[in-house]
Formats: sequence, C-alpha cells, structure tokens
Amino acid sequence: MNIKSRFKDYQVNLVSDFSFIDNITLDEKTYVVADKNVYKLYYDRLFKRISKEQLYLIEAVEENKTIKTALEICEKMTGLSARRNARLVSVGGGIIQDITGFVANILYRGIHWTFVPTTLLASCDSCIGGKTSLNYKSFKNLLGTFYPPDEIYICPVFFDTLSEKDFLSGLGEVVKFNFMYGEEGLVKIEENISKLIDRDKEVLNQFVESSLLFKRRFIEEDEFDRGKRIQLNFAHTFGHAFETMSNYEIPHGTAVAMGTVTANYISMKRGMLDEEYVQRMENVLWNIIRVNITGLHINIDTILKAIHKDKKQVDNQITAILMDRKMELHILHDLQSEEIANAVKYLFGHLKGNDN
Ligand SMILES: NC(=O)c1ccc[n+]([C@@H]2O[C@H](COP(=O)([O-])OP(=O)(O)OC[C@H]3O[C@@H](n4cnc5c(N)ncnc54)[C@H](O)[C@@H]3O)[C@@H](O)[C@H]2O)c1
Ligand SMILES: [Zn+2]
Repeated sequence: MNIKSRFKDYQVNLVSDFSFIDNITLDEKTYVVADKNVYKLYYDRLFKRISKEQLYLIEAVEENKTIKTALEICEKMTGLSARRNARLVSVGGGIIQDITGFVANILYRGIHWTFVPTTLLASCDSCIGGKTSLNYKSFKNLLGTFYPPDEIYICPVFFDTLSEKDFLSGLGEVVKFNFMYGEEGLVKIEENISKLIDRDKEVLNQFVESSLLFKRRFIEEDEFDRGKRIQLNFAHTFGHAFETMSNYEIPHGTAVAMGTVTANYISMKRGMLDEEYVQRMENVLWNIIRVNITGLHINIDTILKAIHKDKKQVDNQITAILMDRKMELHILHDLQSEEIANAVKYLFGHLKGNDN
C-alpha cells in the first residue's frame, strides 16, 4: 500500500513473518529503538543479531513520552559515525512511534525512518498519518510535528502476545473506522466482531488493511488536519477525557470506544440518530469495552473539566463530531455540558456492571 504525502510518498508492507528484519537493521548506519517488552518477547526472532551499541530500549509508558527521552536518543545517535544518512528503525506501539517519529524529524532536520508497529492500534491506525507527539508537563501530546516514516512493516504475528487490554484497545479504532464507513461497515463489523476478538489472523489482516485504506482517504486529502481529517477524531473529544482522567488506565482505543457510546447517545437525544442504530453499534461496543469503572476514581465532573481543557477545544465552546441517521459525521460546536453529563452517566451506568 502506498501513501501520498507532502513530505515523501511512503510504503506500508503487510508481511506475514519476520524475514524483513535483517534487511532493515543490519547496517552500521542504523539505530534501533525498541519497546522493552517487545525486546524481551521477540529477542530470538528479531533482536539477537543487532549490536548493543545500535540499540536503545524504552519502557512504553506515557511518562517516557517526553522531550527528555527524545533528546537521549538524539544524543546516542549523534555519537554514531553516520550523520545525515543515519537511519532510525523503531519497533513498538504508539508510544515508541510518537517518540521516535519526533526524533527522526528533528535530527539533522529529518533522517530516514522505518517503523515496525507491534500493537494492533499502531498497525491499524497510528502508523500512517505522520503525527508525532510528546507529552509536556501535565498535557498529553502537547508537543508534536508531522513526519511520516519512509516505510512501515506490519506483521500480525505481534498481536499474539498483546495483553487482552491492549488488543481490545486496538479493536476500538478498528470498530470506529467501520462505523465511520456507514451501514456497510457496521454490518461487516457486526458479522466479524467475534472472530476479531478471538484474534482470527485472516480476519484481523483484512480489518487492519481496510482500516488503513479507509484512513488513507482522509490523510491524503488533508494531511495536516485542517479539514476532512478532523472527522477521524470522531469519539476522541470524549475519549481523550476518559484516557487522561483514568491516568491512562483506560488505553487509547478503549477510551475511543467509550467516546463512541457517549457521542452516539448525544446524537440520539438530539434526534439526529435513530435508536436502532445506536443499539446496533452498542451491541458491538460492549464486547470490547471491558472496563471496571468503579476502581478508577473518575467521575462526571472531572470528565467535563477534562473535555473543556482538551487542546482541540477552541474558546469556551465544546466541539465534537456527531453521527447522523445516515451515519454521516458532522462537526458541531454547540455541545452543552448537561447533555454530555447525561451521556457519560448512561455510559458509566453500563460499565458499573463490569467486574473484570
Ligand atoms: N501518532 C499518532 O497518530 C497516534 C495515534 C493514536 C495513538 N497514539 C499514541 O499511541 C499511544 C498508545 O499506543 P499503543 O496503544 O499502540 O500502545 P503502547 O505503545 O502504549 O503499548 C501498550 C503496551 O503494549 C506493550 N506491547 C507493545 N507491543 C506488544 C506486543 N507485540 N506484545 C506484547 N506487548 C506489547 C507495550 O510494552 C505496552 O506495555 C498513546 O501514547 C497515544 O497517544 C498516537
Ligand atoms: Zn485514536
């Protein structure tokens, strides 16, 4: 799959095994940054032949997604004999992607970058689109640039070792893309959600590919998030609040799935979306939102405050993307605290029943 970009067109390779790895890592100009967990799990298959001097490991936690970590990598890389022709290969999920994309962008004003996503979320969504983000002070993703990789290798073997929490988080974005696709996407996801949850390789491959093809339409038309691409933020206004308020206990894609329930409830109450569609989407979503809200110390007031604070909110209006009865998306700027509170109350009421 080829992605057109103002920076450079880049290639997404969907592969079925790890035979690609030697080609991209065994070169003295290459520096490899990997997720510590992935390094341990895949040492024999991926990292055994890479020298220690060319390797930097990061624990994939939000606290490490900082300018400090990015500069530490720059420090190591400037010590390499290679200069502007240095190559960075990163192996991990969205956290590793966000840090290394930033490094690849600023070092020598841009070096060659290969990304190997290891989570479902990074494979089906974040690996394309070129956003890099770092957390700053208490603000998530406040610093960032646009810089796509030169090539991406997606290998579904990685999904085998994902925890249920991280796997279901990835499905949150897959489901979101399918709802955005409209009736046809909804039917497709209704028919396949059980197989996806069972990690059926063939079905997962199909959905990873179709998610990327769908996202490609938006990023090729509006790479810098000024128009059409904003629609991809469907469910994210609320999702970001759930994510931060839970101190990242609720992972990104799960927060997006919860944000979808919230957005749809508001649409339904406004008379924009019929109950039948809301029910059908919720029937899919309750399968993947396995959050026990009781242990998380989040409440409706803190969620509302977080929504107001979100960096994407301009002035005092609350902006969110809502779906109508044709499953088309609209950017609305007049959301009221009360209707959001009612929707969150409805969502939390459901999640109180979860005990896992
Ligand atoms: N740049 C973008 O466009 C974009 C888009 C969405 C999300 N994000 C960011 O991505 C981050 C979330 O990323 P994520 O959900 O991909 O995961 P992650 O990088 O946060 O990793 C989640 C966990 O999975 C582990 N892990 C990774 N691969 C594994 C594997 N194959 N087997 C076992 N464990 C594995 C990690 O060690 C970690 O414990 C957030 O910081 C979010 O802000 C960025
Ligand atoms: Zn997302």
